[in-house]
Amino acid sequence: MSKSHELVAIIDLGAQYGHLIARRVREAGVYCEIFPHTITAEELRRRSVRAVILTGGPSSAYAQDSVQVDEGLFRLGVPVLGICYGMQLMAQALGGQVTRASRREYGRATLNIQLDDPLFHGLERQLECWMSHGDAVVAAPEGFVVLASTANSPVAAMARLDRRLFGVQFHPEVKHTPEGQAILKNFLFRVAQLTADWTAGSFVEEEVARIRRQVGDHHVICALSGGVDSAVSAALVHRAVGERLNCIFVDHGLLRKGEGEAVVETFHRVMGMQLRCVDAKGRFLSLLAGVTDPEEKRRRIGHEFIRVFEAEAARFRDARFLVQGTIYPDVIESGTATAATIKTHHNVGGLPKDMSFELVEPLRQLFKDEVRRVGYELGLPEEIVGRHPFPGPGLAVRIVGEVTEERLDVLREADAIFVDEIKRAGLYRQIWQAFAVLPAFRSVGVMGDERTYAYTVVLRAVNSDDAMTAEWTRLEPALLSRISTRLVNEVPQINRVVYDITSKPPATIEWE
Ligand code: XMP
Repeated sequence: MSKSHELVAIIDLGAQYGHLIARRVREAGVYCEIFPHTITAEELRRRSVRAVILTGGPSSAYAQDSVQVDEGLFRLGVPVLGICYGMQLMAQALGGQVTRASRREYGRATLNIQLDDPLFHGLERQLECWMSHGDAVVAAPEGFVVLASTANSPVAAMARLDRRLFGVQFHPEVKHTPEGQAILKNFLFRVAQLTADWTAGSFVEEEVARIRRQVGDHHVICALSGGVDSAVSAALVHRAVGERLNCIFVDHGLLRKGEGEAVVETFHRVMGMQLRCVDAKGRFLSLLAGVTDPEEKRRRIGHEFIRVFEAEAARFRDARFLVQGTIYPDVIESGTATAATIKTHHNVGGLPKDMSFELVEPLRQLFKDEVRRVGYELGLPEEIVGRHPFPGPGLAVRIVGEVTEERLDVLREADAIFVDEIKRAGLYRQIWQAFAVLPAFRSVGVMGDERTYAYTVVLRAVNSDDAMTAEWTRLEPALLSRISTRLVNEVPQINRVVYDITSKPPATIEWE
């Protein structure tokens, strides 16, 4: 897929949020991939890389056990941008000097630009930037010029213009550097002369051709969950192989209000796809009876899902391929050479490896917002593509304590009212996830002179770029008040409403 696109290599030197750089480059319409620092210059040449970006990282360039790169990449003849530790590594490798800074520089700083050069083209001569470093370049390598400085960093940006090697001590990828995206774009378009050829339309076209080559005449099956990733994967594979794609939709009864119906309506009736619906609501409910431990709930649901799916998949004896909605953050989170493994990349419903299918993972290189753009490009409706992310184990991890039919009904109604009000307020697209949670306790209330003893519902809304971190959403008191009134009036089992004001970290987005 990437073959015909201009490829930018982002070399991961252990930056905690290295993927942010990848997001910014993609936002500029340029295709990039993150590589471990052990990648060789030869491999980058073989991949026809058009530019290299070195991320920040926790090492000291001069320390014995520091993270290093193949220095051949500075001689590839393609532009290189070193960010923070990436710049220090470049300086050290090419004969400059890096030492421990006399004062650690953390937070906002004023960047004074000293030269007219392509990296800062079109920008003011004084810019706000975000710094986070303990080491500093004190002498740029021979042949380099200093482009900018701050009060604490005499070499805050440097370049060897004839070889198109650039380094910046600050972080252009974070929002606290307001002109950061303009600086990255200058690197991509002015320095590296790239052409922003990464669009949803070109992705669909190339991926359809790639899937056809991979699958040949064989049949393919897909576990549709109703979520965005599996939906877009299925629609893409359908565009490639048509009737030879067979989708299996397991309704485990833990879906949001109207969700199962929306999946059937969209895929079967609107998109005309082969869809086999399995009503497994009863099986899942009885399996969850009496279970309160969150991990045990997840384990049982995952296990049962596999059983149901295996039984259904056995009907499609001709199928050799299985579609999975793996997306790029899943791949990154599996860990690169330097970044710690955050969680093992989960596949659809945790399908076992001994199912002898070859995987088709068309979204493996995409971020969530790119997946959505591809979804719209394929003609999927807003209701599917724009829907907030939803965990595989569904509402079971939003009911604290035992999952019962009664609790599921209460939660589904509460969730639908909350989301409806968020949509009416025009906030749905701006919020990463907004949903209701049902703790397993009741409390005392009074309604119409009568004592009530009913459920408390928790509202959770968060803003995020990719769910790795999240900020609780500051909803207006008037909106919260409207939602609260509707919930207690329209759902008789609820007499109290609370709003979750914890970010991630320290909390997670889901409650279980
Ligand atoms: P947490 O709760 O870990 O969630 O902050 C991060 C994001 O992942 C979603 N999530 C899941 N998605 N299977 C999934 O496909 C799961 O088991 C699962 N658990 C959480 C969650 O909704 C949020 O977007």
